[in-house]
Amino acid sequence: MTVTINGVDHDRAPRPGQCLRTFLREEGCFGVKKGCDTGDCGACTVHVDGVPVHSCVYPAFRARGRRVTTIEGLAGPDGLHPVQQRFLDAQGFQCGFCTAGLIMTTAALDDDQLADLPRALKGNLCRCTGYRAVADAIHGVRTVDQPGAGAAVGANLGAPAGPQVVTGTADYTFDLDVPGLLHLKVLRSPHAHARITAIDTAGALAVPGVRAVLTHEDAPARHFSTARHEHPVEDPADTRVLDDVVRFAGQRVAAVVADTEGAAEEGCRRLRVTYEVLPAALTPQEAMRPGAPLVHGDKDPVAHRIARPDGNIAGELHDELGSVAAGFAEADVVYEATFRTPRVQHASLETHGAIGWLDGQGRLTLRSSTQTPFLTRRALADLFDLPREDVRVLTGRVGGGFGGKQEMLVEDLVALAVRATGRPVKHEYTRAEQFTSATTRHAFTVRMKAGARRDGTLTAIQLHVVTDTGAYGNHGPAVMYHGCHESIAVYRCANKKVDAYAVYTHTVPAGAFRGYGLGQVSFAVESVLDELARRLGMDPVLLRERNVVRPGEPLTAPGSHADDLLIASYGLDQCLAAVRTAAAAPAGDAPAGWLVGEGMAMAMIAAGPPGGHHADAAVTLLPDGRYEVAVGTAEFGNGSTTVHAQIAADTLGTTADRIVVRQSDTDLVGHDTGAFGSTGVVVAGRAVLEAARALRARILAATGGSTLESSAVRLPDGGTIPLAEVAPVRAEGRWAGTPRSVAFNAHWFRIAVDPGTGELRILRSVHSADAGRVMNPLQCRGQVEGGVAQALGSALAEHMGLDGAGRVTTTGFRQYHLPTFADVPVTEVVFAATEDTIGPLGAKSMSESPYNPVAPALANALRDATGVRFTELPFTRDRVWARLAADS
Ligand code: FES
Ligand code: FES
Repeated sequence: MTVTINGVDHDRAPRPGQCLRTFLREEGCFGVKKGCDTGDCGACTVHVDGVPVHSCVYPAFRARGRRVTTIEGLAGPDGLHPVQQRFLDAQGFQCGFCTAGLIMTTAALDDDQLADLPRALKGNLCRCTGYRAVADAIHGVRTVDQPGAGAAVGANLGAPAGPQVVTGTADYTFDLDVPGLLHLKVLRSPHAHARITAIDTAGALAVPGVRAVLTHEDAPARHFSTARHEHPVEDPADTRVLDDVVRFAGQRVAAVVADTEGAAEEGCRRLRVTYEVLPAALTPQEAMRPGAPLVHGDKDPVAHRIARPDGNIAGELHDELGSVAAGFAEADVVYEATFRTPRVQHASLETHGAIGWLDGQGRLTLRSSTQTPFLTRRALADLFDLPREDVRVLTGRVGGGFGGKQEMLVEDLVALAVRATGRPVKHEYTRAEQFTSATTRHAFTVRMKAGARRDGTLTAIQLHVVTDTGAYGNHGPAVMYHGCHESIAVYRCANKKVDAYAVYTHTVPAGAFRGYGLGQVSFAVESVLDELARRLGMDPVLLRERNVVRPGEPLTAPGSHADDLLIASYGLDQCLAAVRTAAAAPAGDAPAGWLVGEGMAMAMIAAGPPGGHHADAAVTLLPDGRYEVAVGTAEFGNGSTTVHAQIAADTLGTTADRIVVRQSDTDLVGHDTGAFGSTGVVVAGRAVLEAARALRARILAATGGSTLESSAVRLPDGGTIPLAEVAPVRAEGRWAGTPRSVAFNAHWFRIAVDPGTGELRILRSVHSADAGRVMNPLQCRGQVEGGVAQALGSALAEHMGLDGAGRVTTTGFRQYHLPTFADVPVTEVVFAATEDTIGPLGAKSMSESPYNPVAPALANALRDATGVRFTELPFTRDRVWARLAADS
């Protein structure tokens, strides 16, 4: 059949049942993305005869004789399509994985549709931006600057990859042709807990095109943690590549490697597995009971770094500072309640995946959608007993992460398959696998008790925390520790006590997720403080001001060894003042009969994880007079590439367009811990700064120059030497991520609630943030807006369902409601004016922290509006209505 794709006729018959999306990608149109393959996300949008369609649910044969336009064909001979240009001018993206689909949808809208974007864009999801930047782009708002030489820091520089993102030519993980590629599919457990007693592979191996079947008998015996940390001292080593015991419904049972995805899937269907089904514990409460089925009862606590395998406890913390009993005795008011937060999914639009191959020297090479290429290389080398130099891990552009890709969930299996077949192998999660088999946010149950004197001074804070780490420990203990740290270390109080447990259950594992436990515990802490303020008749902002830590004071929390954490800049007072200003503004209109309320909450976060976080960087003056920055950290929409270019440009006295950033490849620099823990700016950026300063000094010393200019060295006598004549010169820099500073955030809402239906409407949303010196206000605002949108999703709607057998029931975007354009209100973002003494050029991190105060601020506004304290997320319309109806 003939299809005209971007003006060129393609003669090829699709395979039976093939969708247009995969057909187009096979014809080289990699701008057509997969976010779901069920018609729910819009990442695959193309035009067929000028009409936008979701190509993943459009049969390829229906395109016969039609004109198909993909993002690659949207631009005209004179340049970008106007919509592409607008997305560039407003930087209407972060990771950019959704962008091609959004542009294709927008390009086909008529004026009426453009006037009603919430409806027009209901078929296009974006997980990163919170849609404000998308709206700016569509409305033609230009927000990107082009700063001059030496003036990049503090400017709204656009992402260097912007032109590629808006034209669909940015290379994400799977956007490359690999000759001879095999496809890997996984058979997953239907049982929450079972022993595999036999796997009959004969049927699978008989499927034409199947090249290998891998089971636990082929896997290394070694246990590891899927979590990636520089020092994995708290991460239980409890996982095998393939195991003979399955501990959650969705766990890998076997892998089939075949010439096509279809053959691999058919191979999985033909596997015959015999299970001995075992009893399961599906909740932490069940798992903590004496005699409960054990998840890792077969493991030694020391060898596997598990606190109490005989009690299903992956990690625990019991510590007290001062005496909470004495603190409660001196309190005039005490409040205590239990708070619950559910599992939620990262839902990055690009699913997990990797392509592996042996390079010309036989070196194992993986191109992966990881946030941690260097730590993944280390894990693979350890797992397969390979020298580290015999393993290379790199990334393309990564389509969103949010912590979910600080995990080795696919690379180990791909490496096993590459070694077994000697061929290139691809493994790409489906959206359903993302829900059933990737990690989630930890569900927390937090019992919080706090007391205060009549003047508002806190006298005692007590937390009892139970987290559900699921079937594997990975980030469980570390998330538990972190959640219980900055959430209460931000308050000056002599008496603090924490009892916390990270509990194994026979359910899908939890992992790292934006905020790393702080969002869950802050929900409890900030709700309880609101109740104390109410009982004292005190302004909740004033209560915070009375109790928050001040510069020079220690940051204390039970169990803390965070000796390197300090307040190296302080903008919390400005954040709280911004909340007070917002609250003082006149209220807007609310629908008649609705209940109106206001609420605030605040949060502190460490700018980087404890124990050291390392980054190496190198900056080279190239023969053409431009500079190349090499960093190990990954770009997944966090904007670190842009900031690295800004830092280098300013330090070297040039413009950012003369900086080429290469990144995220273990061949590039010595080491990089990874893009997690809010470190892209403060750790990798500091390494770039050190390298750029060293290069500047080296160039000036070599030339006798006095300053660097955009493309030349200025000499003391006024003459110049073109930089191209000085090249090549290279210098390196590194930063170890310690000491660490802290960043602050506060959020304020005014809301209206319909008591008749439970509908909650946000009338005004204000977020204040102390990010130190704001390196790129546009981008930093986007991080805040995206974090707030993600937090609103989990505060109002998102939660993963499990059935009575422990199987995930929310296996697609249709069941799991991600915020759409219509769901996210505009949030006004206010930055504190501070300069940090640790972060590069005064910067602090602002990638995870905006998430943390949102849910408690909303809970406090809901309490103010309705008189009811909601203690369980999400605040769905049904749940709100039911509580209001029960209390009326
Ligand atoms: S991939 Fe087609 S709509 Fe999501
Ligand atoms: S920018 Fe929209 S999903 Fe990442």
